[in-house]
Amino acid sequence: MLSIPANDYRELAKKRLPKQLFDYIDGGSYDERTLAENSSALSRIELRQKVLVDVSDIDFTTSLLGTDYDLPLALAPVGLAGSFARRGEVQAVKAADKHNIPFCLSTLSICSMEEIADHASKPFWYQLYMIRERNIVNNMIKRAAAVGCETLILTVDLPFPGARYRDVRNGMYGDDSLWNKLKRLYQFVSHPRWLFDVGIKGGPVVFGNLVDELSMANSMAHLQAWVSSQFDPSVSWQDLAWVREQWQGKLIIKGVMTADDARLASEYGVDGIIVSNHGGRQLDTVPATINAIEGVVQAAGANVDVMMDSGIRSGLDILKARAMGADGCLIGRAWVYALAARGEEGVDQLLTNLKEELRIAMALTGNQSAKGIARDSIIRP
Ligand SMILES: Cc1cc2nc3c(=O)[nH]c(=O)nc-3n(C[C@H](O)[C@H](O)[C@H](O)COP(=O)(O)O)c2cc1C
Repeated sequence: MLSIPANDYRELAKKRLPKQLFDYIDGGSYDERTLAENSSALSRIELRQKVLVDVSDIDFTTSLLGTDYDLPLALAPVGLAGSFARRGEVQAVKAADKHNIPFCLSTLSICSMEEIADHASKPFWYQLYMIRERNIVNNMIKRAAAVGCETLILTVDLPFPGARYRDVRNGMYGDDSLWNKLKRLYQFVSHPRWLFDVGIKGGPVVFGNLVDELSMANSMAHLQAWVSSQFDPSVSWQDLAWVREQWQGKLIIKGVMTADDARLASEYGVDGIIVSNHGGRQLDTVPATINAIEGVVQAAGANVDVMMDSGIRSGLDILKARAMGADGCLIGRAWVYALAARGEEGVDQLLTNLKEELRIAMALTGNQSAKGIARDSIIRP
């Protein structure tokens, strides 16, 4: 059944969250051109309507990295999700499991991977950032295996955090001066529902996967300092080979945008690639991912599953991504807006709605199965 579209949750989340948190989610880097282009490029693609096909029984089943899921969709890794709603990552994994789609837990989540494993009914995917101290990375890889993760995502498009000026302007990052602290405090107390849900009932609000390393991080300024000092900008393809050696399960590389990098990733033995510009949060003016997907799919070869994210907001977008060759999509902001607005129920409703939108889009383009979505469902420019 249809409820409300993904973008409506953005408005609800805007009301509910302190401005710094909303802007942290909503913003992109520099002038936010790639952020805007991700959605614009998707909306410019036209669909080819096809009639009089029996679409009474639409099959959404999708195979990703050898596992069957109920939709060609996953919840992308989003840091700090447990500060948008009470134990946010736990609420999200429950919704994802209900819909039988992958949930990706960020290295920078509030809930630890062990807490997620306690509440998940299926194996979730763990996202890894490469940290200078390899023993921390190694330890996280071992913990992920121990809690039953079968898929590891190595995010490679963050040697440095992007220049996100909304965060600087509103005091989310930058110095931890008295003025910035007061600005934050004002925002917190002027959003009592959020304060009660997260600040009072939702603790501890710490970086659950890194409590030993980040015990002092009680503000974004601390986190930023830690990220700047600990995220390793020297990471190269040899480090991917190192992760491949450490990790026995499925390995996905996230943040690939070109055919050349896709070819290399494939040579280094990844099982999957996520075409991503980090939702327009890293290198501004790179192309929209929908314009990069075809080249990556061709270069990756038949043994590598290719997914894409950045800008996916509707069932139409999912269909367009599949038609352009993606095996599946991920949503980032869409699920965290729904989570911030309505918790687990919001994410559940969002996923139900995306499925319904996809059903309608598949029906009117004459597609009976998600696996078989035809290339000619879109009209190429
Ligand atoms: C608030 C926020 C935090 C994010 N944190 C992470 C993260 O910790 N690790 C990661 O690999 N990607 C992270 N991403 C990027 C998402 O995984 C995903 O690539 C992006 O959100 C997709 O674009 P969309 O938001 O338009 O769907 C984050 C994105 C947002 C919006």
